[in-house]
Amino acid sequence: MSDNTIAVTGSTGRLGGLVARSLSTSGHPLRLLVRNPNRAPSIDNTTLVPADYSDFDAAAQALDGIDVVFMVSAHESQDRVDVHRRFIDAACAAGVSHIVYTSFLGAAPDAVFTLARDHWATEQHIASSGLTHTFLRNSFYLDLLPHMVGTDGVIRGPAGAGRLAGIAVSDIAEIASSILEEPTHHRGTTYELTGSEPLDFDQIASTLSRSSGHSSTFHNETIDEAWESRRSAFGAPDWQIDAWVSTYTAIASGAYGWVSPDTAKLLGREPMTLADVLGRLDGQQ
Ligand SMILES: NC(=O)c1ccc[n+]([C@@H]2O[C@H](COP(=O)([O-])OP(=O)(O)OC[C@H]3O[C@@H](n4cnc5c(N)ncnc54)[C@H](OP(=O)(O)O)[C@@H]3O)[C@@H](O)[C@H]2O)c1
Repeated sequence: MSDNTIAVTGSTGRLGGLVARSLSTSGHPLRLLVRNPNRAPSIDNTTLVPADYSDFDAAAQALDGIDVVFMVSAHESQDRVDVHRRFIDAACAAGVSHIVYTSFLGAAPDAVFTLARDHWATEQHIASSGLTHTFLRNSFYLDLLPHMVGTDGVIRGPAGAGRLAGIAVSDIAEIASSILEEPTHHRGTTYELTGSEPLDFDQIASTLSRSSGHSSTFHNETIDEAWESRRSAFGAPDWQIDAWVSTYTAIASGAYGWVSPDTAKLLGREPMTLADVLGRLDGQQ
C-alpha cells in the first residue's frame, strides 16, 4: 500500500540533497535511496534505504509502496542509459505512479552536447514505461562555472561567442520540491529550466573576476586544441572528452543562450544570476 512518502534519490549530492532538505522542512515523510548510507545527509522525517540504479532488485524493494519518486540522473558513464533504464523498470515493478526526472536542456537524439542524448533516451524510456512523469530539462549549472577556470585563471573551450543562460542548482531544487509536493499538477509536462541572463564566456570570466578578486579570462580554443588539452591533461576515454568538449560547442551552437519562461513562472520570481550564485557560494566558504 502506498502512503504520501516521497522517494528521493541523489540526496548525497547537490541537487537531491537540497530537494530532500526542502521537502523535509515542509513536513513530508521521505525515503532516501542512497548507495552509501554512511554518506547520507542527516535530515528529519526520513528513512534511508540502500539502492544503486543498476541493481534492479534493490531498487524495486527500495521503492515498494512509493507513489512519487524524484530521480536524479546518475553520474555520467558510457552505460548511463542502461543504468537509468534498470531503475525506471524497477520503479514500474514496484508500482510507482509518478516520476520527476532531472533531464537536460535540449535533450535530443542528435544534441550537440553528447550527454543530452542520454537524457533524451532516458525520457523516451520513461514515456514508454507507463509511469506518469515530469521532466526537468535543466540548463548548465551556474554553480559549476568557477570550476571551469584553470589554475592559470583561463577558461578554455571552443564556445566562440556563444551564450549561456545557466541556472542555479538551488533554483532547480526549489522548483523540483514544489512539483514533488503537487505532482498531479505537473503530469506529462516537460519544463525547460534556464536562468534569465545569457552571458558569453568573456562576460562569465569578467563576472568571476569581480567576484573572486582574481583575474579570469576566456580563451576560445579550436576543437582540435580542446581535444588535445583534455587528452593530455586527463587521459580520459574519448566518450568523456567528447562530452567535455561538446559542453562548449553546444554553447557555441546557440542551444543554451535563450531564456525559458518556465523558470520564472515556476519560481514566482526571477531566477538567480551568476553574481547571485557566486555571492552565495562565497558566503558558504
Ligand atoms: N546541469 C548541469 O550542469 C549538471 C552538472 C553536473 C551534473 N549534472 C547531472 O545532474 C545530476 C545531479 O546533479 P548534482 O549536482 O546533484 O550531482 P552530484 O552532486 O554529483 O550528485 C549525484 C547524485 O546521484 C547519485 N548517483 C549517481 N549515480 C548513481 C547510481 N548509479 N545509482 C544511484 N545513485 C546514483 C550520487 O550518489 P553517490 O553519492 O553514491 O555517488 C549522488 O547522490 C548529476 O548526477 C548529473 O547527472 C548536471
